[in-house]
Amino acid sequence: MCGIVGYVGPRPSQDILLAGLARLEYRGYDSAGVAVIDGEGALGMRKKAGKLAALRDSLSDAALADGTTGIGHTRWATHGGPTDENAHPHLADDDKLALIHNGIIENFSALRDELLADGVTFRSETDTEVAAALLGREYRSNGGDLQGAFRAVVNRLEGAFTLLAMHQDHPGLVVGARRNSPLVIGLGEGENFLGSDVAAFVEHTRKALAIGQDQIVAITPEAVTVTDFAGSPVEAEPFDVSWDAAAAEKGGWSSFMAKEVAEQPEAVANTLRGRIQGDQVVIPELDGLDDLFLGINRIIITACGTAAYSALVGKYAIEQWARVPVDVELAHEFRYRDPVIGDDTLVVSISQSGETMDTLMAVKYARERGARTLSICNTQGATIPRESDAVVYTHAGPEVAVASTKAFSAQITALLLLALHAGRVRGSMTDASVDVAELSALPEKIAQVLETENDHVSQLAGWMADTRSVLFLGRHVGYPIALEGALKLKEISYIHAEGFAAGELKHGPIALIEPGQPVFVLVPSPRHSALVHSKVVSNIQEIRARGARVIVVAEEGDAAVLPFADEVIRIPLAGPMFEPLLAVVPLQIFAMALATAKGLDVDQPRNLAKSVTVE
Ligand code: G6P
Repeated sequence: MCGIVGYVGPRPSQDILLAGLARLEYRGYDSAGVAVIDGEGALGMRKKAGKLAALRDSLSDAALADGTTGIGHTRWATHGGPTDENAHPHLADDDKLALIHNGIIENFSALRDELLADGVTFRSETDTEVAAALLGREYRSNGGDLQGAFRAVVNRLEGAFTLLAMHQDHPGLVVGARRNSPLVIGLGEGENFLGSDVAAFVEHTRKALAIGQDQIVAITPEAVTVTDFAGSPVEAEPFDVSWDAAAAEKGGWSSFMAKEVAEQPEAVANTLRGRIQGDQVVIPELDGLDDLFLGINRIIITACGTAAYSALVGKYAIEQWARVPVDVELAHEFRYRDPVIGDDTLVVSISQSGETMDTLMAVKYARERGARTLSICNTQGATIPRESDAVVYTHAGPEVAVASTKAFSAQITALLLLALHAGRVRGSMTDASVDVAELSALPEKIAQVLETENDHVSQLAGWMADTRSVLFLGRHVGYPIALEGALKLKEISYIHAEGFAAGELKHGPIALIEPGQPVFVLVPSPRHSALVHSKVVSNIQEIRARGARVIVVAEEGDAAVLPFADEVIRIPLAGPMFEPLLAVVPLQIFAMALATAKGLDVDQPRNLAKSVTVE
């Protein structure tokens, strides 16, 4: 939550900061602000409640246009409402010093009392202004050593933070620090960048440095210095960004979400690339790490949101192929009890951003208790993979829309790969060739669903624009997809939606059915299990008998559903573990089309942020 960007170099920084913020706006859009050391050497600042467009309008006078050192912020409000005053940057030292923040400073109240007693006055309700004021006081008392003052301040803060600061007496210098919140460095020629993620600067450079926890960075146009909180030098890890700026552009699509839904065949193909050898799955990144799968008797998959629903699909696949018991745990529940884990447990975390605070804390918690950790992640240089013993990147490319789509498909694909890899290593599979062939066929089949069902499902959503509640039912791997279909609808259409295991229907949810209630039912193939298929068909009859409007997602040729369905959405034939990747696509299209029909912003839904970096 909150996006931050910093720049030092020869170019006017304002446009660079605004472009960076536009790419980081997915992290929060309650307010935005920039501070720049202008051509006269004075620090100027503008900040505005609302989306970035409001800040852009306020910058039309070009007062800050020629400064070449600057920082920028886009906010998701935690302490204090989304007002101009609470927007970042926050100023101190007679408005000569500016500071921005992502995270929560947990001891801000005690620090604020200390500063109030010292005569400091505050203009906002934020925890961030406390850090700014502390930095200003430290700077004055140490004789103007910005880096020394910054180091003293970060050592007094508790909680999670990425901070960037600059002072007008030090043009050409931006200092930053991180603890449990993200910060990456972009290396340019005669210029350098800081950002919450590489999207902030990818149009200028694809060379980046990842820095670790509790580290401080200082950038000037010519140099990057990284130290720990004690001031000792540390090595930052260089990496090349694998995608270019065009990948993070809308490129003619009506929304990022529409683009990302359409990119799913490519995202899945990219996740598979280099990981299939003949008729076997071999994940090169896990080479030499067989012990991750051999020395364990249990796997826990932990994640939040959409990633947690991909984890549920992973549970079915890993248990089927690798024959290890798997539990799926929401990260925020996992770490606040006393789970039974140890060195016989592999904890797999899943996170698109690699920064979700709860998931990060769950990984740290697991490591501290001796578990092995493996991360499935989409973002290079992110924190969670750095905190894990091993990482499998999904390579889905940047996902900008807040509601996750292509990252979800890539996560399921990575989990299927992991299950087949672990099954081979553990010797629990006799013949994986059929499943490997199914994997390879996925991109084409997803493309087929997009082509054949897009208009049909969009039209259906248009007809249902006034719907107030939608239910989703699924069994086996269809169950997580029912949950994900409901989540997509809630997130972007603000419609009440629930996903249920179809078998639970008679234990409560059926009471919700009244005439006209729309229900999506994910029907598993009868070729996999005639029994499970027949159970779902019975469920359809039960809700139909009570007046539900039944929309069925079923494989091509399944005629058994026809007499009881109001609408049938078709997906190509696929093996049992692979159907989720096909069945989720119409549900994503449905949510998107319904939100569009209601005139909503599908990319930036209210109250949400893509990367939840606070608890
Ligand atoms: C937020 C986003 C969701 C996402 C979840 C987990 O809630 O709005 O779309 O699924 O975080 O994010 P992660 O980056 O860890 O996958």
